Amino acid sequence: MATQTATQTSQPKIRLNKKAPVDFSSFVGCSSPLFEAAKKDRRYNDWRDDLVRDGVAVVKGAIPEDRANQYADRMLNWLEDFQLGFDRNDPNTVHADKLPAINEKGMCFGYGVSHEQFAWDVRQEQGVIEAFEKVYEDKDLIVSFDSVGFSFPNRKDLPPNKAWPHQDQDPEKGGFRCLQGLVNILPNGPDDGGLIVCKGAHLVSEEFHEEFKNEEDPVWAWTKEWYGFTSQGMNWLENRGFKWEKICAGPGDLIVWDSRLPHYNLSPTKETPRFCVYTCYMPVKDCSQEDLVKKKDAFYEFRGTSHWPNALQINALPVLRNGQPDPHNRVKPASGAPKLSERGFQLTGIPYIKAEC
Ligand SMILES: [Fe+2]
Repeated sequence: MATQTATQTSQPKIRLNKKAPVDFSSFVGCSSPLFEAAKKDRRYNDWRDDLVRDGVAVVKGAIPEDRANQYADRMLNWLEDFQLGFDRNDPNTVHADKLPAINEKGMCFGYGVSHEQFAWDVRQEQGVIEAFEKVYEDKDLIVSFDSVGFSFPNRKDLPPNKAWPHQDQDPEKGGFRCLQGLVNILPNGPDDGGLIVCKGAHLVSEEFHEEFKNEEDPVWAWTKEWYGFTSQGMNWLENRGFKWEKICAGPGDLIVWDSRLPHYNLSPTKETPRFCVYTCYMPVKDCSQEDLVKKKDAFYEFRGTSHWPNALQINALPVLRNGQPDPHNRVKPASGAPKLSERGFQLTGIPYIKAEC
């Protein structure tokens, strides 16, 4: 979910030029047999058909519901263990003063949260990994060190979560390049916030960008690997008949989407919070040795990344409390260095680094 874009939406409207330091011009992206033109008529008779057609799919029960409930409990423990005053049983304690820094989009970046044991345990869930294996038809995968989502309903202490329709990839690089994902932890119905997408619009992304490549007032982007839709762009999608649809999911369901799919998130509006762990995997064959080394360093330094599993973008956002560096921030996760299974360690990419690197 373009994690690092989340706090940048109030920046001036300028688009980075090609000399910008965050122009990853040599990075190609991932390839998936599902999106090869020669296989466009292939049918899978499962959620992969939804993904190819709609650009989004819900993988039901990627994690058993009872284990999803355990993750919810562990995530609530994590919030309470800051001992800032948050109490899961008292809605009045849902306040920035009593919680770690979580932005209006529900995203938490600091505190080593990307490497907390609960986050790694979600990434190591077999049902989650298998979904990405099916898309890439490859078992040699690496995983992002992405952020964690904690959205509580009706927060008055945060700015409103305005719509920020976007794609999480470079508009100048067409075709399928990345499959994003999130594991939904709590019941997530129509009013419980979460992912909203413009179904099917991934298939016209290249056409759209050909038409809008010289737009005069683009949405500011901190990286070329992100594109924000203007009102004109939204009108184009609407005129082409595309509809926005909130994606609902149960505890333990995995939602996956093509990075070309226009999307953003909504805040919950009733009683139920929205918790999720962003998980994105890619074949290690699509990752350079240089990126694997960068990823290794991020792993041992407990640093988070955006959704790109090759550590294309390492999180460098400040963690602030009342405008100052949060004294509760920490480098190392509260649970210590994560304990990984053999497969989990493979997902860090470290075993795939060649000796000369
Ligand atoms: Fe996103």
